Amino acid sequence: MNAGKRALPGCFISFEGIDGAGKSSHIEALAQRWLPRGVEIVRTREPGGTPLAESLRELVLHRPMDTLTEALLIFAARRDHLQRCIEPALSRGAVVLCDRFSDASFAYQGAGRGFDAAVLGTLERWVQATPTGLRQPDLTLWFDLDPSLAARRVAAARTPDRFEQQDEAFFRRVRDGYQARADAAPERFVRIDAALPRESVYEQVVAALRERGW
Ligand code: TYD
Repeated sequence: MNAGKRALPGCFISFEGIDGAGKSSHIEALAQRWLPRGVEIVRTREPGGTPLAESLRELVLHRPMDTLTEALLIFAARRDHLQRCIEPALSRGAVVLCDRFSDASFAYQGAGRGFDAAVLGTLERWVQATPTGLRQPDLTLWFDLDPSLAARRVAAARTPDRFEQQDEAFFRRVRDGYQARADAAPERFVRIDAALPRESVYEQVVAALRERGW
């Protein structure tokens, strides 16, 4: 259940990184190009992934709110997502590819906004509890990129949401937050150098899966 080697199918892979690191296109590529035919693939995201959680996402990304409210809404969305989407999918033996999961809360709300990590830890234990332990991804691919480069990519690509509007110092803290989570769970995390050309980034992603025998 926790991090470790687990044969496909029936595994949970999360994708993390600061805004602009380019993870979303690699989720698509993995689903299209790498995963074996005949395996059920569930592509999903956080906050979001169910009708209720997508409604909460709209609020979190676009309405002003304090950081405790933000954290509570994100974990409420996560609970619904786990209950209605992720846990049933894993029970069916699907491969779940999830664009962000709770590491993002520690990186963005914790390190970025300065919210109490102990409270986040409590929310994590409540929300991700299962009968056999704490639900975590089997593998977390962390797309790491210098925040100044990421900011240039975001500026060129889209109208910024509440997070993307933050300054570079915020994203430096978020990056440090991801580093701390990776240091705390090295068997679960793989750092991907997202500054390289797209095809080299994709090769690192595939290599990380192969290393696990997947
Ligand atoms: P993102 O994956 O960047 O969506 P998009 O590619 O459509 O912009 O996720 C939306 C934002 O939500 C992102 O800026 C990070 C933020 N976020 C948190 O602050 N905490 C969390 O726990 C999660 C899951 C996301």
